Amino acid sequence: MGMQKRTDPVSQPGGAERKTFFVTTPIYYVNDVPHIGHAYTTVAADCLSRYKRLKGFDVHFLTGTDEHGQKVEKAAQAAGVEPLAFAHSVVVRYQDLWTKLNISNDAFIRTTEERHKKAAAHIWETIAQKGDIYKGEYEDWYCTPCENFLTETQLVNGKCPDCFRPVERLKEESYFFKLSAYGERILAHIEANPDFIQPSAKRNEIISFLKTGLRDLSVSRTTFSWGIPVPGDPRHVMYVWFDALTNYLSATGWPDAALKDGLWPADVHIIGKDILRFHAVYWPAFLMAAGLPLPKRIFAHGWWTVEGQKMSKSKGNVVDPNAMIEKYGVDQFRYFLLREVPFGLDGDFSIKALEGRINGDLANDLGNLVSRSISMIEKYRGGEVPEAESRATPIPQNDNTEPARIIRGFFQTRSDSYDAVGDRAREIAHFMDNLEFHRALSEIWQGISILNVYVDKMAPWKLFKEENKTTLSNVLYTLAEGLRIIAVYLYPFMPTSADKIWESLGIEGGIAGRSFDEEVKWGRLKPGAKVKKITALFPRLQA
Ligand code: MSP
Repeated sequence: MGMQKRTDPVSQPGGAERKTFFVTTPIYYVNDVPHIGHAYTTVAADCLSRYKRLKGFDVHFLTGTDEHGQKVEKAAQAAGVEPLAFAHSVVVRYQDLWTKLNISNDAFIRTTEERHKKAAAHIWETIAQKGDIYKGEYEDWYCTPCENFLTETQLVNGKCPDCFRPVERLKEESYFFKLSAYGERILAHIEANPDFIQPSAKRNEIISFLKTGLRDLSVSRTTFSWGIPVPGDPRHVMYVWFDALTNYLSATGWPDAALKDGLWPADVHIIGKDILRFHAVYWPAFLMAAGLPLPKRIFAHGWWTVEGQKMSKSKGNVVDPNAMIEKYGVDQFRYFLLREVPFGLDGDFSIKALEGRINGDLANDLGNLVSRSISMIEKYRGGEVPEAESRATPIPQNDNTEPARIIRGFFQTRSDSYDAVGDRAREIAHFMDNLEFHRALSEIWQGISILNVYVDKMAPWKLFKEENKTTLSNVLYTLAEGLRIIAVYLYPFMPTSADKIWESLGIEGGIAGRSFDEEVKWGRLKPGAKVKKITALFPRLQA
């Protein structure tokens, strides 16, 4: 894997002083309980947030729920309760899952909260005063499951092109937003900011869409009432996407506080590919109309199928994250989500693949390495991390044996100086900043496999027999220190397991709150630290 060009679009703080980093997930509809798709976006945002905190950013990680609209109203009716009561009962399912998944969000927004309704009304009024909202009549097709308007030509066999379900004909008085006036400006913005929409294949889709021209957008409805009333005309409720997108502002305290506190614009909206158009076209247009800055980046990830099939309730193949966590463990599930599929592409979930990753990558490669290393330090050095020459540099420069070269290749710092951050650390950081989680992990696994090869080649048990004390100490220190650094890299993905590795190395306090740049430097593990056996990090699954 060659060195990448060192652009770092996410981590550049806006101004000299600005070190905040604002990351969001979509707000999830409360018409249904959480599934693997919701867990995916949220785990990815959590991983990025934890990494950015280690990088010294003041992270603001927002998630929440989308509680208005016809879809939620219909689900509540079916359950025989009021929409708000229904929302109250579903929102806890999300919040509980985020706790179980170890999600470190700083904020949670519900669109039924007063602060949100106030902000949505405020952005509406601002745009209306500018003259970009007008009253007209709407007649077109509407897909309720997607909450999306469609033209005749967009339909596929008379059905929704996205979910293939039947659409309804709508004819009603409606307020319109002058979306058609913004296509050129959005296009210009995308062209001037190559990182605005990622991955680039998705960016190209949006560019083509914009080039076909935009119609004005119906932004209010009168046929149902579960929504935020249109200011000055409460017969209408706001189109649910107009309402929902505003959450990114309202959750920061806007219009009273956000801009002043420097949180807005968001650094990255992480979303699924199905809702890219809303985020990359409608949202920028609303913001431009309101005179507000655009988010810096929108990243659309792919979709999971399940054992090769589209996931759906009717097929009964919906993956419940709660069940996965219970059976396999939180960190195992988090790891799988971010390792199995390149972030940005579609992928397939299967129990076989999940179990394969757990037994292979986690139990065999990593778990074994940790337990072997700790056992050897216990057996050969009375449970204390030894003093060793290999603390100053992973391997002496004049040692050109093969094991030495591979260790040096991964853990050596750029210059020989103790303080430099290594090239691998920079590469991993670069992948993290680009949301290339799978590449970061595959690089980290190179480090793990290097340590595994190293133990086998150096055979500490032989060194012990031969009483080769200096080399044995060097090898044991190198293993422990290598694992300490690996744990820092792994922390954003598997926070609990990474902390356990540190604990087993006798390091006090967890990884949170530390500095990535400091902690990935070689030689910080203190000789004399008392190692601790921990119960199997990743128990092997029986076939
Ligand atoms: N409420 C809107 C978002 C408003 S944001 C201002 C919404 N909610 S949702 O609950 O339907 O879904 C949210 C997220 O789940 C989307 O990012 C979507 O891509 C993701 N997923 C739903 N099913 C998925 C898969 N099968 N695979 C991966 N992610 C999927 O849309």
